[in-house]
Amino acid sequence: MIELVDGQQFGVDRMPTRAGTPPARLDALGREILALKKRLNAVILAHNYQVPEIQDLADFVGDSLGLSQQAAKTSADVIVFCGVHFMAETAKILNPGKIVVLPDRDAGCSLEESCPADKLARLQATNPKFYTVTYINCSAEVKALSDVICTSGNAVKIVNAAPADRDLLFVPDENLGAWVMEQTGRPMTLWRGNCYAHVEFTHASISRIRQDHPGAPIVAHPECTRAVRLLADEICSTEKMVTYCKQSAAREFIIATEAGMLHRLQRECPDKKFIPAPTDHCKCNECRFMKMNTLEKLHDCMLNLAPRVELSPEIIARARAPIERMLEISARPA
Ligand code: 13P
Ligand code: SF4
Repeated sequence: MIELVDGQQFGVDRMPTRAGTPPARLDALGREILALKKRLNAVILAHNYQVPEIQDLADFVGDSLGLSQQAAKTSADVIVFCGVHFMAETAKILNPGKIVVLPDRDAGCSLEESCPADKLARLQATNPKFYTVTYINCSAEVKALSDVICTSGNAVKIVNAAPADRDLLFVPDENLGAWVMEQTGRPMTLWRGNCYAHVEFTHASISRIRQDHPGAPIVAHPECTRAVRLLADEICSTEKMVTYCKQSAAREFIIATEAGMLHRLQRECPDKKFIPAPTDHCKCNECRFMKMNTLEKLHDCMLNLAPRVELSPEIIARARAPIERMLEISARPA
């Protein structure tokens, strides 16, 4: 059986396939992937932005927080991480003894790129009172310099738990950081990084789609700019989008995040309608890094056990403490 993050299960023969995908090809490759999974005693973890055919084959589909929680507790020998590089690195940091592979080593992240470890260390050196809260979208080296990690799903809780006598430095997403400041009232120094995909949504592009669907709530990721967040009815992580749309009485929703999310939402809420928020140039918005992963590359990384995530024991030890702090704070009752 294939289990989703929320415990929903699919039998292999009942697995949903994407409309328009030639079933014979998907079935053959899919069957090989599942056979490899069994032989390797592997677990396939997939982010909500992955292409539908990968989501449909994965053991767990979720947001960065859910995926790190799954990585922390898996008993599999091999972790196959279908997401971007920093996510696979996080899984390796939590499982130094296991093999962690990803379909495409070049699946990066503009936030990770914006924050090199040496530049962060220089900024930290300017204020000994800094307490560094780091969004999980960063390299292992940057995690190693951090006091605590957060995701979009727990950033408010993590900042609320930060020591009151320290100056908060939030890296590397200035939009998520600004939203967390609004939610917590806690001033923070913000690193000037952003998600190149989410900042493509504009006040004008979202206002236009709202005119076409006046009754549809706008659900936006906190990586969007303030100009977009001001228009949103709900601002949350990708996993919380699923909960919000399930619980809402609305029948249609405008979703301001990466377009892969719509597959997950449609699967979880088959009788509701999801409209991808447009940018000024495009009807929807994709992350080029997330979309580097394909079913073929997923198959090949399992067959070859490569590309593999390798990190030095020293970086793993230093990066693990702030991730474990995040997981511990996250598990505290609200
Ligand atoms: P989530 O943790 O909300 O899924 O976000 C991950 C991400 O990369 C957003 O761009
Ligand atoms: Fe990074 Fe943005 Fe892609 Fe998420 S959507 S992985 S933040 S570039």
